[in-house]
Amino acid sequence: MSRLVEDLPKTELHLHIEGSLEPSMVMELARRNNVDFPHATETELLATYEFDNLAGFSKVYQSSSRVLRTERDFNELTQAYMRRVRQDNVRHVEIAFAPQGASSRGVDPVMALEGVLAGFEEAKAEHGMTGGIIIGCQRHRGIDDAMRMLDQVRPYRDRIMAIGLASLEVGNPPSIYRRLFEEARELGWKAVAHAGEEGPPEYIWEAIDILKVDRIDHGVRCEEDPALMRRLAEQQIPLTVCPLSNVYLKVFPTLERHNVARLLRAGLCVTINSDDPPYFGGYVNENYIQSQAALGLGDAELVQLARNSFVGSFMDDTERQRHLADIDAVWLRHAGEAAPAHVQN
Ligand code: ADE
Ligand code: ZN
Repeated sequence: MSRLVEDLPKTELHLHIEGSLEPSMVMELARRNNVDFPHATETELLATYEFDNLAGFSKVYQSSSRVLRTERDFNELTQAYMRRVRQDNVRHVEIAFAPQGASSRGVDPVMALEGVLAGFEEAKAEHGMTGGIIIGCQRHRGIDDAMRMLDQVRPYRDRIMAIGLASLEVGNPPSIYRRLFEEARELGWKAVAHAGEEGPPEYIWEAIDILKVDRIDHGVRCEEDPALMRRLAEQQIPLTVCPLSNVYLKVFPTLERHNVARLLRAGLCVTINSDDPPYFGGYVNENYIQSQAALGLGDAELVQLARNSFVGSFMDDTERQRHLADIDAVWLRHAGEAAPAHVQN
């Protein structure tokens, strides 16, 4: 375990709350809610966590998500995630919740949102954390379904931070969701979108120019387009990269072949996140630590990634400066400890 990674204050900007469901909780909720579930044990369930791509993952993810039925389930799920990432010294989270996923399973999306919001408020107070909720649109369901979903959550407009775009990327370009993002931005929300995970660089351009996003989720395929790399670097548009997710979903064959270090060294505002941690082998610190080991990230680069996680967040600037000062203090202390001992006098 790298002590620097543990000690650095961090944020998490790319996390699907339904994707934080631990296998033990899947089994517990299946029992509690009498859900007819195809796996009898946690081990059996875990054996299905092998994915060829995003589509293969989505099937398993949707199957496990079926156990989430009640407001209490969503509340407990959110609190469990916050409790877990506080151990990773995560101070601020911006977490995505997908109302359409709930609707598709016959669960009232507004009730589910109430559960997430209540759990979030309780956990923020208990752990001294900050953050916001991103309403994630599932892009495989089309614009009409997305607009209905927006109408359902609109009454909660003041308790929501941003609109997002997730699920199956290829064949579902961002441009389809222009109207959704326009209306969401009119509500005063920020905007983020998954783009350039499996989809081409053109989808990243569309997310920036058509959806006018503040941040790109994943975005790793930007490297195929030098003009796009320049745009991302010049405007410092943050990328919420999820290295372990990308390996589990075969976006990269191994972590050693991941481009997160190259993107960082090219001057992009790269952040490191976990996406769906129990499915992809680890929470935020595990993503930092394994990336460091596989890609030879130096201490200064780990510090830069932690700084970027605050710079790329939607927190207010005073708060951001306070966290950045904390990062500087941790960095100074570590640099002091790593330096050779001085001979006194
Ligand atoms: N939903 C949950 N995880 C996702 C990912 N990695 N890409 C797109 N949609 C998702
Ligand atoms: Zn994601």
